[in-house]
Amino acid sequence: MKTLNISQLLKSQPLEHVEIKGWVRTFRANRFIALNDGSSLHNIQCVVDFENTDESILKRITTGAAVSITGELIESQGKGQNVEINVKKLEILGDSDPETYPIQPKKHSFEFLRENAHLRTRTNTFSAVMRLRSSLSFAVHKYFNDNGFNYMHTPIITGSDAEGAGEMFRVSTLDQKNPPLTESGEVDHSKNFFGKDTNLTVSGQLEAETYAMSLGKVYTFGPTFRAENSNTSRHLSEFWMIEPEVAFMDLAGNMDLAEDFMKSVINYVLEHNKDDIEFLNNRLLDEDKTKPQAERNELSLIEKLNFVVENNFKRVSYTEAIDILRNSKPNKKKKFNYLIEEWGADLQSEHERFLVEKHFKCPVILFDYPANIKAFYMRLNEDGKTVRAMDILFPGIGEIVGGSQREERLDVLKEKMAVLDISEEELWWYLDLRKYGTAVHSGFGLGFERLVMFVTGMTNIRDVIPYPRTPQNAEF
Ligand code: 4AD
Repeated sequence: MKTLNISQLLKSQPLEHVEIKGWVRTFRANRFIALNDGSSLHNIQCVVDFENTDESILKRITTGAAVSITGELIESQGKGQNVEINVKKLEILGDSDPETYPIQPKKHSFEFLRENAHLRTRTNTFSAVMRLRSSLSFAVHKYFNDNGFNYMHTPIITGSDAEGAGEMFRVSTLDQKNPPLTESGEVDHSKNFFGKDTNLTVSGQLEAETYAMSLGKVYTFGPTFRAENSNTSRHLSEFWMIEPEVAFMDLAGNMDLAEDFMKSVINYVLEHNKDDIEFLNNRLLDEDKTKPQAERNELSLIEKLNFVVENNFKRVSYTEAIDILRNSKPNKKKKFNYLIEEWGADLQSEHERFLVEKHFKCPVILFDYPANIKAFYMRLNEDGKTVRAMDILFPGIGEIVGGSQREERLDVLKEKMAVLDISEEELWWYLDLRKYGTAVHSGFGLGFERLVMFVTGMTNIRDVIPYPRTPQNAEF
């Protein structure tokens, strides 16, 4: 007997004997079970011989119940599917109370499903999103593996808080009520588990740089943590970041890498997850129909993904972007919340979205930002006021990638750290890289959930990670 999953069975020729286990989506006319095992968006229809099946068993075939079915795979007698299973034996593995089961066969709001996140992957939308998330993860590893990168596991607990990418979560085993104190009355972290103050990492970049400077091409793909109180549809307190880091690569190479990488992973899912993408595409088209014309998407999801894969990202310097924004209609008509007046202003998401969605209408790479709005480790340009930074902005998402060429000159780096009061003692190992065989090197960070949002068309980041962690929320 072959044990094939539903995805395989649906593509199979008739088979005399099959066994399948899954969860009942619907049971109609005491005869037709729509069964799903998570392997595909599609259910397999299982036809029950109700005349020869116990009434007590029929009653237990309810939405959500787990069942085991043995039968014959035959050409379907009805419309809507090529094959179906003629049920010979049916066993209820786990009952589901139809009165209380939250995932009824009807439309549920995403808010409701977030509260039932442990069961939401039993819906078409969330199973499609999470299969795509899984497939995208694989595509990420495949891309780097195919291109000679080493996968590096950077530490999750870190003793350095110098990265400056965001507020951190402290990791401590000290007694919260009665911590040991130093003579001057501060908490004595020498008594803490690691003998120092430690936090959850905001980024694996600094450690990745150390391995790039020996293994050449490395990447990390792991969880990162930021304790910012930003309750938006694009921010999580725990998110996954992909960070490649490459020796002897400059900013132009970094932009090429990021663009090629993003096109490659999007292409991968366009090819391998057709059903799920098509389902999400249609979901959005239906949603669009309920909106006024002006709010509808110009491109469908599939058109948008193809557009990104087929067109060059527009590369624009920060200085050019500021000129465009300063002269833009929303700036002149004072429609932006933050008006752009001078060179040096930090760009807000309203500005990023204007550039991407209204002005260029394609993904944009902004580069050469003012030094004082970017991190200490970015390579200072010859003008002495801009750094070799780049951000990639995507339509509907805003910033999806942040990266830079790193400062490889010991003296310049030390000067910068001194100005920002970053301890040389703490980052002695980072400075060593600039003492022993320093070289041009670059890398970037891609927020994985923002990529999943873009690919699935989901508009809230809480809906593209299994169990979102956000301010005031760590359920499940
Ligand atoms: O721009 P960020 O802060 O860059 C860094 O952390 C660098 N160390 C990366 C590097 O050069 N290796 O973050 C990178 C990306 C952002 O562009 C965004 O996509 C995502 O991480 N990101 C978040 N995603 C979800 N929730 C948050 N709170 C995020 N903060 C950043």
